[in-house]
Amino acid sequence: MSRIETLIASMTLAEKLGQMTMTAASFTVTGPVIAGDSTASIRSGEIGNLLNMVGPGPVHEIQRLAVEQSRLKIPLLIGLDIIHGHRSLFPVPLAEAGIFDPLLWEATAREAASEGAADGLALTFAPMLDVSRDPRWGRTVEGSGEDSFLAVEMAAAKVRGFQGPTLAAADALAACAKHFVAYAPVLAGREYASVDISERTLHEVHLPPFEAAVRAGVATVMPAFTDLAGIPMTAHTALLRDWLRGRTGFEGVIISDYNAIRELLNHGVAADLPQAAALALHAGVDVDMMADAYRHGLPIALERGLVSMDQIDMAVRRVLRLKEQLGLFDDPYGRCHRHETEATIARRRALARKVGAQSLVLLKNDHNVLPFRTPLKSLAVIGPLADAAVEMRGPWPAAGVAENHVSVLAGMRAALPDAKVAHAAGVSIEEDDTSGIPAAVALVDQADSILLCLGEAAVMSGEAASRAHLGLPGAQAALATAVLTRAHFLGKPCAVLLFSGRPLAVPELVDQSEALIAAWFPGCEAGSAIADVVLGKVSPSGRTVICWPRSVGQIPIFYGERRTGRPANPSDKFTSKYLDSPNEPLFAFGHGLTYGAFRYSNLRLTPQAIDVRGTLQVQVDLTNEGARTACETVLVFTHDVVATVSPPLLRLAGFGRLELPPGKTGTVSIAVPAQRLQFLGTDLSPVFESGVAEILVGPRANRADLLVGTVLMQGG
Ligand code: GLC
Repeated sequence: MSRIETLIASMTLAEKLGQMTMTAASFTVTGPVIAGDSTASIRSGEIGNLLNMVGPGPVHEIQRLAVEQSRLKIPLLIGLDIIHGHRSLFPVPLAEAGIFDPLLWEATAREAASEGAADGLALTFAPMLDVSRDPRWGRTVEGSGEDSFLAVEMAAAKVRGFQGPTLAAADALAACAKHFVAYAPVLAGREYASVDISERTLHEVHLPPFEAAVRAGVATVMPAFTDLAGIPMTAHTALLRDWLRGRTGFEGVIISDYNAIRELLNHGVAADLPQAAALALHAGVDVDMMADAYRHGLPIALERGLVSMDQIDMAVRRVLRLKEQLGLFDDPYGRCHRHETEATIARRRALARKVGAQSLVLLKNDHNVLPFRTPLKSLAVIGPLADAAVEMRGPWPAAGVAENHVSVLAGMRAALPDAKVAHAAGVSIEEDDTSGIPAAVALVDQADSILLCLGEAAVMSGEAASRAHLGLPGAQAALATAVLTRAHFLGKPCAVLLFSGRPLAVPELVDQSEALIAAWFPGCEAGSAIADVVLGKVSPSGRTVICWPRSVGQIPIFYGERRTGRPANPSDKFTSKYLDSPNEPLFAFGHGLTYGAFRYSNLRLTPQAIDVRGTLQVQVDLTNEGARTACETVLVFTHDVVATVSPPLLRLAGFGRLELPPGKTGTVSIAVPAQRLQFLGTDLSPVFESGVAEILVGPRANRADLLVGTVLMQGG
C-alpha cells in the first residue's frame, strides 16, 4: 500500500480534517496574530496547512512541531501570496503583462519562487487570472488586464515559472490559479459584490486562462469569494467538479479563499456551518482556508449524512499527494535551508530593474520631452509619490520591505550624482491640504527639468480597494496644474510619472502634460528603472493591457466588445454613442510609445487560405524612423467579417517584439495557430467557420492604427 493510502487508513477524523484546514501561523506577516497560536493544533495533527508566515527560522520551528512531534509526522504545507515577487518585488502583474514577453513573465515567477522557497514556503497563491474590464475594481492590478488571450499566455508562463521543472525541487512553489472564476466583473466594480455574466462571456473570456493553467500543470486552484449568477463559487459544483475537474481533468488541490466557506452563510445558501462545509466539500474544495468550517462543520455533516467519509478521504488524498509532490515528506526542511548568495540577489534585482523599465508605459511624449537632455545639472522631483519607496511595492508586497525598494528620488539621485536633485512632495497622496504647493512650484524655477510623481497609494488598489471615482486622489490635481503651468510658462521639460494599480480617468492631467508615463507600481528597483528610462539609457517599450477610460461613465469599456446593430456614427443620432462623451478611451489597449518612431509596412499573410489544423504566418516590416534605438511590440488581432455569432470588433491572437536602431528596417514574424481563429458557436463549443477573417496588425487596439489583411478560413 502506498504511503498516502497507509496514512489515510490510519488517520482519525480529526487528523483528516486537519489536513483539510489552513490557518494563519503565529508568525504572521500580516500584522497581529490572525488565528491565535496554532502550535497545539499542529502537534495534535488538527492543523495541516498554514498561510502568511515567512522566514527559514520560524518555518523550521513550526514544521518541526508537525514532522517530529505529531503522531503521523505529516509535514505542513505553508503558503503566502507571492504575487509578483517575495522580498525582491517585480512590477505588479498589470504592469508586467504590458511587456508582452512570456519568457520574462516566467523568469520573474521563477525568481519569486526561489526567493519564497528559500524563506520556507512551498505554495504561492498566484497567478491571479481574473480578466478585468472595470478599473473601479481594485484587484485589476493583480491580473493581466482586459484581454483573455493575454491571461491565457500569462497563466502558462507563471505556472511554469513558479513550479519550475519539478515541484520537488527546493526552489519550487506550488502555484495557485485564482480566483476561479469570473470575480472581476463584480457588480458596479464593487469588491466582493455579486457577479452575473452570460454563459458565453464566462466561456469566451473567463474560463480559458484557468484551462491554460491546468494544461500547464498548476498544482492548486482557488475559487473566488463571489457568486456567479447566484451560485457562490466556493459551492459551485458545476464549475468546480464538473468543469474544472471533469472537463479539464484538474487533479490538484482546491483551496478555498480566506474564510469563504463560512461566508456561504452570508451568501444565504447555507443555514449553518455543517451545511456550508458540506456544500464546499461536495463541490470539490479540499482545503478550508481560515474558516475552520471543515474542522467544526464536517463531523456534524457526516452525522447528518450530508457528506461521506469517501469524500473526505478524497480531499485528504489530494492534499497528501501535493505534499508528496513537493518533496515535503522526504525533505520537510529542504526549503528552509537553501541559502541564496548575494550574487543571486543582485542578479534578481538587476532583472527587476530591467522588467521595471520595460513595464513603464509612455502614454504621451509631445515634443520629445523625454528622455531628458543630459547632462542634467539640476532636477526637481516633485509630488507625493516622489520619495515613497513603500508605495513602489504595490498592494501585495509579500515579504518585500520598503527599506530595499528604490524610490524615484533615490533612483534619480543615484543616476545623477553630480546634479542638484531637489525634492518637495507638495501634497500628500490623499489629504486635501494644498499648503505645500507653493514650495513645490518654487522648485520648478530652480531646476532644468522636472519629474512630477503622482497617483495612488499602493493600498488604494488590490483587495478591498474598489474606487467609485478614478481621478487623482486628494489635492494632487491642484499640484499638477500649478507645477505643469509653471513649467510650461518657463519652457522647462516636465514629465509626469503616474503610479497606480489601475487606469485612472485623468483627461485633464493628460491634456496638461506633455510627457506622461504610467508607472503602475514598479517594484524594488522602481527608482532605478525610472531613471534608466527618463534619462534615455533604456527606451520605454511597455504597453497598457487595459484601456484607460475618460470617465467612470464609460465603464465597462474594452476593445473586444461586439459590433452591435447600430455601430457609432457621429452623424447619426440613433447609433451607439453618448451625448456627453466620446466612445473611445483615453488610451487604447496596447497603447505605449517608445523613443523610436515605427512605420509598419508590407503585411504578408501565408497561407491565404487556412483550415483549423493550420498555422498562419503573419509578417510585417517595421522601420524605425526615430532618432533612438527602440523596441516595438506588434499586436495581431483578428476580426470575423461575418460569423454565426456576432463577432467582437477585435480579438488579440498574437504578438511579437523587435528592437531596431534608427533608420533600420526589420521584419516581425508571428505564428498564429488557426485554432486562435476559432470562436464559440451557438452551443458554446469551438467552431472554425468558413468565411473571411480580417487579420489586423499594429501597435494598439485601434483600427485606424492597424494594417489589415484577410485570410480565407476553410471550415470543416
Ligand atoms: C485573500 C485573497 C486571496 C489570497 C488569500 C490569502 O483574501 O482573496 O487572493 O490569496 O486571501 O491571502
